[in-house]
Amino acid sequence: MKIVTAEAVREKLTIPKCMAIMRDALCQLETGEAQQPLRTVEILPNGEAFGFMPAYLGNTDYFGAKILTAFHANMGTNYPSHMGYVMLFESVHGAFVGMADATVITEVRTGAVSGVATDLLARKDANTLALIGAGAQARSHLRAVCEVRSIKTVYVYDLSEARSKTFIDEMTSEYPQLEFHVAKTAKEAVADADIICTLTPSQAPFLESQWVKPGTHINAVGTFSPTTREVTSELVARSKFYADQVEAMKRECGEYLIPKAEGLIDETHIRGSIGALLLGRIEGRTSDEEVTLFDALGLAVEDVACARYLCVE
Ligand SMILES: NC(=O)c1ccc[n+]([C@@H]2O[C@H](COP(=O)([O-])OP(=O)(O)OC[C@H]3O[C@@H](n4cnc5c(N)ncnc54)[C@H](O)[C@@H]3O)[C@@H](O)[C@H]2O)c1
Repeated sequence: MKIVTAEAVREKLTIPKCMAIMRDALCQLETGEAQQPLRTVEILPNGEAFGFMPAYLGNTDYFGAKILTAFHANMGTNYPSHMGYVMLFESVHGAFVGMADATVITEVRTGAVSGVATDLLARKDANTLALIGAGAQARSHLRAVCEVRSIKTVYVYDLSEARSKTFIDEMTSEYPQLEFHVAKTAKEAVADADIICTLTPSQAPFLESQWVKPGTHINAVGTFSPTTREVTSELVARSKFYADQVEAMKRECGEYLIPKAEGLIDETHIRGSIGALLLGRIEGRTSDEEVTLFDALGLAVEDVACARYLCVE
């Protein structure tokens, strides 16, 4: 049995490698080769979340589950907001193969999936990035977006200006060629952006349509429940809208369910999944004026595919 620690995950699961794993996993989910039953997210008596996310990687005879906590009260403390392990089993005898740290897998795979979506949907000449929320996801999103577009300028907005500054200090040593700016507001952060990543646990939508330039690509990542969202209904309605998994979006995604309940959009507003885009089954961006929006809920197949790579390869 193999145990892959957080340090070992960080060393082996690089963003380019993870993006390749995510492309395969999302295509396999789209074709039905990989499968994932409904995830369970329990809200604990203290209001924090405890999740069980199972998935089966059909073609490789492995299955498993991510078991993790999402404690937003940990923001700004020494504890990460997501902690747990991804457990891996082989499907010939059902034997347990190993487990890998879920904090780092969650950080890296979420950024990697947004990187894949950005590669498919952002304008080729996109060079200005806005990161809203300067936590763990901001790190992986910066790295993933820089893999797929020639980013020159990065605006960072966080409720805590100190966290924006710490993030920029850390990332400047890795990306000395980038011009970083601390934004005072989310509006200021996105004003010039070609790519926007929303990476916060905000309970209320804050990204307004009138702030966003034509031609922008948005990765909306921070919220994943029917009642929470970061993007306003008007901006969702204006956007070409893509899911990580369409079924999950219809069940869990506030960014979709709330404007739908308001009558602003219907089911046809969902263009399809990133897997379908990768397979060429649906259309992506068709003009430099369109706003594209990828909404990430986070999928167990992404986690289990990372665990297979970390425990077996
Ligand atoms: N969709 C997915 O697959 C997925 C995966 C992992 C995490 N998440 C979610 O992404 C979000 C970020 O995760 P993380 O690990 O980076 O968290 P984190 O705790 O490391 O950082 C979150 C940051 O957001 C800031 N913030 C909170 N509300 C804000 C607001 N309204 N405007 C601007 N900044 C704000 C906080 O100050 C903090 O610095 C969380 O909500 C998390 O649950 C989603």
